[in-house]
Amino acid sequence: MKAVGSYKALEVNEAEAFLDVEIDKPEATGRDILVEVKAISVNPVDTKVRRRPHPDETLRILGWDAAGVVTAVGDEVSMFNVGDEVYYAGCITKPGSNSEYQLVDERIAAKKPSSLGFADAAALPLTTITAWEALFERLGISKGGKDGGKSILMIGGAGGVGSIAIQLAKKLGNLEIIATASREESADWCKARGADHTINHYEDIPAQLDALGHTNVDYVLCLTNIAGYWKTITDVIKPAGKICTIVDFFKDGNLDLLKPKSATFAFEFMFTRSMHQTDDMDEINALLSETAAMIDSGELVTTTGDVISPINADNIRKVHATIEEGRAIGKYVLEGW
Ligand SMILES: NC(=O)c1ccc[n+]([C@@H]2O[C@H](COP(=O)([O-])OP(=O)(O)OC[C@H]3O[C@@H](n4cnc5c(N)ncnc54)[C@H](OP(=O)(O)O)[C@@H]3O)[C@@H](O)[C@H]2O)c1
Repeated sequence: MKAVGSYKALEVNEAEAFLDVEIDKPEATGRDILVEVKAISVNPVDTKVRRRPHPDETLRILGWDAAGVVTAVGDEVSMFNVGDEVYYAGCITKPGSNSEYQLVDERIAAKKPSSLGFADAAALPLTTITAWEALFERLGISKGGKDGGKSILMIGGAGGVGSIAIQLAKKLGNLEIIATASREESADWCKARGADHTINHYEDIPAQLDALGHTNVDYVLCLTNIAGYWKTITDVIKPAGKICTIVDFFKDGNLDLLKPKSATFAFEFMFTRSMHQTDDMDEINALLSETAAMIDSGELVTTTGDVISPINADNIRKVHATIEEGRAIGKYVLEGW
């Protein structure tokens, strides 16, 4: 089968960073399903793992977002049948989706929204799992609207995660959403997905919140550069408010700043369940299934920004380069082999 991989940790423009290769098709056993991958999308995590040394220099296949068709099932599979159309992010410790066929544990996959083609479905899983877990599990926001009217500041609103987090926070949480975006097109994208207000992350955030009538906010979801925004976040969070980030802190995170406000801080990492094979791994199937139903009923829209064909080394390299610029709006998807 075709795949795109590399043997070394390399920068995006180095020739061997992306190689078109032929490898054996894997076989489904246990709870794994074998999926014929029809479309993939690329996330910043792909670019981070690509640059991470792998000592044994064996073939590494990136890619943690896919939509495709089940072609075989392991002997313990009970949730899917051959022919089902599925979407999933997969597991960071397993070979990724940049291959014609991929194994994935049934508990972290779901039937794709039937109203979407493979490309639009592939845009969704990784960012949806991240946004869902961050909002409803880490921040504990009620999905039934019990927290309706509370305010959330989302830093980095137009990116892949923000594009779906805005929609989920509005449709299921009924929150007042203040998203940050630094350009007219990224601000328009956030508003089109349900943000009530946009402010510019490169300007004075507390002053812009003040101008909107908010001296502080109930929740902060920081989708980028937490260390850089930490002082601002601790200034604008309400007493007993809640903060979640999906990115690493590095060395500048002084959690003591939260003590006077008794505020809560949480990390979200969407691979936690699959990496640690937690007992509730099938919650990922549940949340992706619920999202698919909301897409099919028109409550949510896909977050596709651009679609490129075919899936090959040249095109994956182009998308990595775009994502590394940090100005993506929505998701970049690749379709067909
Ligand atoms: N923990 C997890 O499970 C998890 C899951 C998914 C992603 N992540 C990580 O979360 C981060 C965001 O992911 P993503 O997919 O949303 O990324 P993305 O799609 O590449 O985000 C692009 C957006 O980031 C905004 N941005 C760039 N620099 C910014 C800054 N200094 N301040 C605020 N916003 C800025 C840009 O907005 P403007 O163009 O308007 O400036 C752009 O729209 C990445 O580091 C990714 O690796 C973690």
